[in-house]
Amino acid sequence: MAKEVSVLLGTGSIGQAIARRVGAGKHIVLADLRIENAEKAAKILEDAGFETSTIAVDLGSRNDILKLVEHAVSFGAVKNLINAAGVSPSQASVNDILRVDLYGTAVLLEEFGKVIADGGSGVVISSQSGHRLGALSEEQNTQLAASPAEELLSLPFIMAITDTLKAYQYSKRCNVLRVMYEAARWGKRGATINSISPGIIITPLANDELHGPRGEGYRKMLRLCPAGRAGTPDEVGDLAEFLMSSRGKWITGSDFLIDGGTTASYWYGDLQYLKATH
Ligand SMILES: NC(=O)c1ccc[n+]([C@@H]2O[C@H](COP(=O)([O-])OP(=O)(O)OC[C@H]3O[C@@H](n4cnc5c(N)ncnc54)[C@H](O)[C@@H]3O)[C@@H](O)[C@H]2O)c1
Repeated sequence: MAKEVSVLLGTGSIGQAIARRVGAGKHIVLADLRIENAEKAAKILEDAGFETSTIAVDLGSRNDILKLVEHAVSFGAVKNLINAAGVSPSQASVNDILRVDLYGTAVLLEEFGKVIADGGSGVVISSQSGHRLGALSEEQNTQLAASPAEELLSLPFIMAITDTLKAYQYSKRCNVLRVMYEAARWGKRGATINSISPGIIITPLANDELHGPRGEGYRKMLRLCPAGRAGTPDEVGDLAEFLMSSRGKWITGSDFLIDGGTTASYWYGDLQYLKATH
């Protein structure tokens, strides 16, 4: 019997927290560049009563995304898309960050925008990092929001990026703008799409950073932010659940900063000292 389908790309702890909240009774497609990550998530979710399948997908490849769409629709109507895949400035090169985080997300929204079911909803995990970039011109905003995906990486101001932090910030800003552009198209199918921009969320990698050589810098930042601590994947999951539920139907094309006030403090509070380093 055809089921409703939730698609999760990027099966780390943020993605899993969201899938657990929206995936009960549905078929959950677990997609990841590293199939072993998808399989680990499948084991945890299957043992908690969810139905899953796994597939290896590189977000930075249109062919892989098309394979993912084909895999997902074979189970039934695609009700949810969760994009929690991505590479961070300390993990990847400028080219890889732009190809995966910026270009890949644009293609993913374009392709799932063709199949998302009536009443469906999606979330893209962006980052507080995109909120640390100064204002772009209206022309640059429009180019990031609405250029054909295949032209994004050839935009002159994108080609000029040479450091990984800038590549990450532009990618995350682009995610937010792309979500606005796609909301207009997804709306025609009766579906919503939003982005969530988290601050530091404790995951195995973030935990390593907190206790690694640069840990004191991170711990100081968390001490000084208004919430005084890092966030948890479940708090991001709770926000995503609301946006993807029937109560979130009037919310689309929006970005939600969930960072314990870190961005507010970065611009106007105790964390302004970080501007010298970002
Ligand atoms: N953890 C944080 O503090 C934090 C803060 C802000 C934003 N984010 C964003 O949240 C998202 C998820 O991050 P996370 O912390 O859960 O990280 P994570 O590393 O635990 O999970 C990310 C997953 O994405 C997969 N992935 C990497 N490249 C891929 C690709 N090309 N195609 C498909 N899958 C790929 C990885 O294999 C991994 O399983 C990322 O977009 C990240 O930028 C995380």
